[in-house]
Order: sequence, then C-alpha cells, then structure tokens
Amino acid sequence: MTPEIATSDLVKKYINIRKYSEEICAPLEIEDYVVQPIVDVSPPKWHLGHTTWFFETFILVPNFPDYKVFDPQYNFVFNSYYETIGARVIRTDRGNLSRPSVSDIYRYREYVDEHMKAFLESSFLNEAVEPLLELGLNHEQQHQELLITDIKYILGHNPLFPAYKKETSFKRKKNTAAGMIKFSEGVYDIGFDGKGFCFDNELGRHKVYLNEFEISDQLVTNREYLEFMEAGGYTDFKHWHAEGWDWVKQNHAESPLYWHYIDGKWMNYTLNGLQEIDQDDEVCHINFYEASAFASWKGMRLPTEAEWETASAHFDWGNRWEWTNSAYLPYPGFKKEAGAVGEYNGKFMVNQMVLRGASDATPPGHSRNTYRNFFQTGLKWQFTGIRLAR
Ligand code: AVJ
Ligand code: FE
Repeated sequence: MTPEIATSDLVKKYINIRKYSEEICAPLEIEDYVVQPIVDVSPPKWHLGHTTWFFETFILVPNFPDYKVFDPQYNFVFNSYYETIGARVIRTDRGNLSRPSVSDIYRYREYVDEHMKAFLESSFLNEAVEPLLELGLNHEQQHQELLITDIKYILGHNPLFPAYKKETSFKRKKNTAAGMIKFSEGVYDIGFDGKGFCFDNELGRHKVYLNEFEISDQLVTNREYLEFMEAGGYTDFKHWHAEGWDWVKQNHAESPLYWHYIDGKWMNYTLNGLQEIDQDDEVCHINFYEASAFASWKGMRLPTEAEWETASAHFDWGNRWEWTNSAYLPYPGFKKEAGAVGEYNGKFMVNQMVLRGASDATPPGHSRNTYRNFFQTGLKWQFTGIRLAR
C-alpha cells in the first residue's frame, strides 16, 4: 500500500464516521438537541460538540502547527471529564447550554473536519498520531450509540411520544434456537490479541480458570420477562440484591424502561413510537439489578465476562448489551496511558459492571467479542438485555 492510498483511506474513514453522527441527528427538531432530562443523558448538541472537541484537543492542537482553535471557550463547554485538560461545565448543567447554538456547533464540526482533512493529507501525520486518530474515531462511534440512546430517552419521555423515525432500520432478530451450551472446566485465554484497534481496557490477553458452566444460546424475551413480572418478580425481595431491592422500592420499579400499562395492555415506546410489546423480541432496557433478579427467579445466574468471551463464538450476539456478573476491573498488567487519554477508561474501574456484546444502537463494526462496555448497576437507558448461565 502506498502512503497516498493509506492517507486517502484514512480521510474517507474519518469523513464517513463523522457524517454518521450528523445522520443520526437529522430527524431531530432544534429543541430536541438541547434538553437533558436526566444526568446520564447528554443533549445531542453536546455530543456533536464533544466528539469534535476530542479531535481538536487531542490531535490538531498538539500536532498541527499553526492550528487555531475554533473558539477558546469550547474547552470549558465540551471537556467531559479530563482533569488533565482542566475546568469544565458540570455534567448536570449540559442541558442548560442554550449557547453555543446548534448551528454554531455544526459550524464547529465543519471547521474541525476541514482542518482534520488537511492534517491527514499533510506531512505532520505520523505513526505516533495514528493510534490517537483511531481512538478519536472509536470515541465518536461510542458517542453515536450514546446519541441514539439519549435521543430515545428524550423523545420517549416526552408526553407526546414522538417517533424518532417512521420506519426503523434497526434489525430485530427473533430468537429461535433454544438451549444451554456446555463448557468444561479448564484454563482459558481472554483479552484482545488481534490486529487493529482495541481499547486499553481489553489488554492484555491473560489466563482465567473457569469451572464447568452452561450458557444460554439466546437472550431472554419480553414474554419470559412478562412471566417474571406477572409472577410478582418486582414484589418479592428474595430474588434481589439488597441494593436492588432498595432501588425497586425507591423507584416503584415494575417493568423495563419505556413500558407503559395502558388500557389493560403493556405498551412499549420504541424509536418508531408507542407500540404493543413484541413478545418474541429480546427484553431491553433493564438494569443490572433486574437482570440479576430475573436470573435468580429462573434458578440461574448471569455469566461472568470470562465465560461470555469464552463461549461467544457459539452463539449470536449483537442486539443487546448483555449484563455480566463481573465487576469492571483492570485486567492483569493493565497500564494507563500517559497524559489525558490515560483518563479514558481506567479511572472508571470502580462500582460498575461489565456488559458484553453490542446493541441495535452500536455502529456496525464497532464492537468485538473482547469489548468491555461498563455501566453502573441502576442504569436502564442503554439497550441492555439478559443472557443466562448456570
Ligand atoms: C464505555 C459507554 C461507558 O459512556 O462514558 C464516551 C464511552 N468514553 N466518551 C461512556 C465513552 C468516553 C463510555 N462507555
Ligand atoms: Fe466522550
């Protein structure tokens, strides 16, 4: 491969990924871009600015001589959590940012994209920058998923239940296979060991000992979850962690997020609007407590992340993020990178659980069977589901 081809491939890849974020937002009204209904949900305009800021701050400013930032105030507005970079707007205030306006942010994207293209075609692009470029692109893809989950939350908590799109392009796989796959006890290897990009939290490949286990080749359906609800799953403490039971009572929890009991029927807000529950679809938008309680009610448990990765070649995955029973911890030998990007994953390795797989909202090609997603135990707004093990 000649250097020129490599560069034009990079530019193409950059442009395509950047464009997809704007495509996700194309169906929105201006007002939809601004609100922050809960702390976990960021306004779509903030995602569009923050991902742009990432390229500006980590690639253009340090590597492209004479680059001038679009607006020196944006560092405060679009820095998410990088202490190394400095002060920032607190997370709960992202929804108060009526300025910069949505059109300012689209101009910001255009400005940074023009400079990124020039940079990628310049002699300043070198091997040391390429991992940062890959990180920036994978970061943008993570925010594409967050854009979809956050847009769903914003529209799905509007009393008018507006549809995001009339027709959905989201695949909906019916699960047909049914059964437990058995694995014998032994020492297995997990962690990333391939070519191409991975996040630092997937490194390095290492040995784990697994006892004999069985894992389901399918995810729990809405039908099965309704059975749990109708059997009093939310009113019987015995299947819940203590924290989970507190959560049930404090939140009067009784169903997955987006479910509404209307005129004697369970309805579900989807990206296509309010619909009757599809009983065959995989249950979605449940938190770790609910996944654990359901598993306990079934007389089973959630798989560990090592079991999941070991078994992953033997089942279909990719429609729901799957809660595992593994705490999000560093792998043996985990090293934080130097500088601000060292804050990307490592500092979140406390009080969160690992999710494996991918979801309908994950950009194609973004995930892999070593990917470690992570969220706090009480959160329901991601596209999360349940795979059982025993
Ligand atoms: C891996 C999805 C938990 O939401 O903070 C975005 C992704 N990291 N920007 C998150 C992420 C930096 C991350 N999750
Ligand atoms: Fe981010």
